[in-house]
Amino acid sequence: MTVELQGARITLRMGTPADIPAILAYYRENEAFLKPWDPVRLAIFYTEGYWRDRLYMDEEDLKAFRSLHLFIFERSEVIGVVNFNGLVQGAAWYCNLGYGLAEKREGQGLMREALDLGLTYAFNELKLHRIQANYMPHNRRSGGLLRRLGFVVEGYARDYLYLNGAWEDHVLTSLTNPRWLPPG
Ligand SMILES: CC(C)(COP(=O)(O)OP(=O)(O)OC[C@H]1O[C@@H](n2cnc3c(N)ncnc32)[C@H](O)[C@@H]1OP(=O)(O)O)[C@@H](O)C(=O)NCCC(=O)NCCS
Repeated sequence: MTVELQGARITLRMGTPADIPAILAYYRENEAFLKPWDPVRLAIFYTEGYWRDRLYMDEEDLKAFRSLHLFIFERSEVIGVVNFNGLVQGAAWYCNLGYGLAEKREGQGLMREALDLGLTYAFNELKLHRIQANYMPHNRRSGGLLRRLGFVVEGYARDYLYLNGAWEDHVLTSLTNPRWLPPG
């Protein structure tokens, strides 16, 4: 089971073992840039072995409707990630969205293109009703991107995520699908 979505400039898809060098290059080159926004990364995160296990688990997690982890590709280069975490069915049909882009690719509308593809898939194929995305108040680029995509601010969570060695407040936002129909 895999997911591959084609945009005008990028491809958004799950990773395969052949992509591991490109995934490692993305995370190594952007380590300092992504550090303020990402969980603390242990040294093992930057190894081929970690990513072999992780890509296997990504497939298992999608089969079990736990998460969908996608990479943004420009040809064979990984330039970012889009992650739908904590997929919940039942009365909820929601998840949490996370994303990050290579520093040198900011300001070109590439994350917007990737999220347009990913959100359409999440609503139409995963049948989600609500996608939640949260950002630190000073993350101007992330807040602007979510606003342009139609996400609505719903609240403010103190000490929401432990990032870069500190608990960080977050603005809580979400996008819902008004055309949602019960599956089946
Ligand atoms: C948040 C993040 C993904 C935003 O990236 P981005 O490139 O600004 O996002 P977009 O794809 O929406 O691009 C918008 C920018 O591209 C510009 N742009 C250029 N060509 C464009 C096009 N064809 N279409 C749309 N926008 C275009 C826009 O004018 C805008 O620039 P501006 O913000 O300087 O005004 C990126 O800053 C990032 O990865 N940050 C670090 C990790 C992070 O913060 N993750 C999220 C944690 S909540």
